[in-house]
Amino acid sequence: MLQTVAIRGYRSLREVILPLRRLTVITGANGTGKSSVYRALRLLADCGRGEVIGSLAREGGVQSVLWAGPEQPSGARRTGKVEGTVRGRPVSLELGFASDDFGYLVDLGLPQMAGHNSLFGLDPEIKQEAVFVGPVQRAGSTLVRRTREFAEASSESGRGFDELTRSLPAYRSVLAEYAHPGAHPELAAVRDRLRGWRFYDGFRVDADAPARRPQVGTRTPVLSDDGSDLAAAIQTIIEAGFDDLQRSVADAFDGATVSVAVHDGLFDVQLQQRGMLRPLRSAELSDGTLRFLLWAAALLSPQPPSLMVLNEPETSLHPDLVRPLATLIRTAAAQTQVVVVTHSRAMLEFLDTAPLAEAVEGDGDAVEVGLYKDFGETKVVGLGLLTTPPWEWGKR
Ligand SMILES: Nc1ncnc2c1ncn2[C@@H]1O[C@H](COP(=O)(O)OP(=O)(O)OP(=O)(O)O)[C@@H](O)[C@H]1O
Ligand SMILES: [Mg+2]
Repeated sequence: MLQTVAIRGYRSLREVILPLRRLTVITGANGTGKSSVYRALRLLADCGRGEVIGSLAREGGVQSVLWAGPEQPSGARRTGKVEGTVRGRPVSLELGFASDDFGYLVDLGLPQMAGHNSLFGLDPEIKQEAVFVGPVQRAGSTLVRRTREFAEASSESGRGFDELTRSLPAYRSVLAEYAHPGAHPELAAVRDRLRGWRFYDGFRVDADAPARRPQVGTRTPVLSDDGSDLAAAIQTIIEAGFDDLQRSVADAFDGATVSVAVHDGLFDVQLQQRGMLRPLRSAELSDGTLRFLLWAAALLSPQPPSLMVLNEPETSLHPDLVRPLATLIRTAAAQTQVVVVTHSRAMLEFLDTAPLAEAVEGDGDAVEVGLYKDFGETKVVGLGLLTTPPWEWGKR
């Protein structure tokens, strides 16, 4: 289970160290940084997929996603005037996590090595990476570390480090390059963990949405991000014998039942509703109905991913569906770890979370993380010096 997520220098997240529980619900007013937390988690997962440079470039490069305020905002807080100060450390975007077993930290910075005349002069570069055991990175807990092109792994004897390479390209993650289960099982474990995280950020439900097109179905334990394999995912849940799905659909749509029809080898979802002579096909379902089925298929996965991150799942659902949706989220959180970003008060209530300040003491498994803005910077309600989880940022 993921214990801590740390983000430094990403948009309004100047420095945020978040404790995570089985179910973590991130809330806050507009513009407080909820979506930024969601996107930072996605970037972290992209490190495991070897796609982080591309994702950052699509966001406009490191330059444009970096925290735009002063490095140390204490002066501005004191005087009320924002002024640039002399930088104490390099410009960087740092992302990391710590879990029950391994942790990972990556430091992305401005390009320096693109070479003269290169058109890739704006590509961010990976400056530092570390894989470690335990809650924080220390010399003694580091398994693999990378500084620019140089990477080394702690030696088998437990004393010192053995060189892995002196020529790791700045755009390649050490996870992508050296994660062979035989040679570096810990790197492979971290990479596979990151690759397994699933992000659901609303689903397309328009007339041409992938979820409305009948598709060849194969066993699908985890719904894809765009929901295109909805029918296969639903059939997988039905065949796994999970009755949560029928219960949830009946609860949400007045006794309706969901099933999958196969025509010419193509799978299609259908919903038998009260008062209808025949079931309605996915192309005929209302947007909200289809969206709810997509959330149900994602959340009731028979083999859930190690982490599910949901961005504003209640968006464009009728308020009556918020309770059944919250029930689905709780069911999922009983199986795996879930992070939900939400605006909805009702959703928070149905999820039955405890505010962070109370949960830090006890060991509540569903926690509400409230965000607020302070001088442009995202802060976490109830998280002070003593209650912030331990975290070590690396040094370049
Ligand atoms: N480079 C940057 N430096 C500092 N702040 C930034 C930067 N880029 C964006 N912001 C600010 O970050 C804030 C967080 O935006 P974000 O989209 O995460 O908010 P949100 O909580 O998801 O809001 P909403 O509820 O409206 O979706 C915005 O107020 C934006 O002005
Ligand atoms: Mg948002």
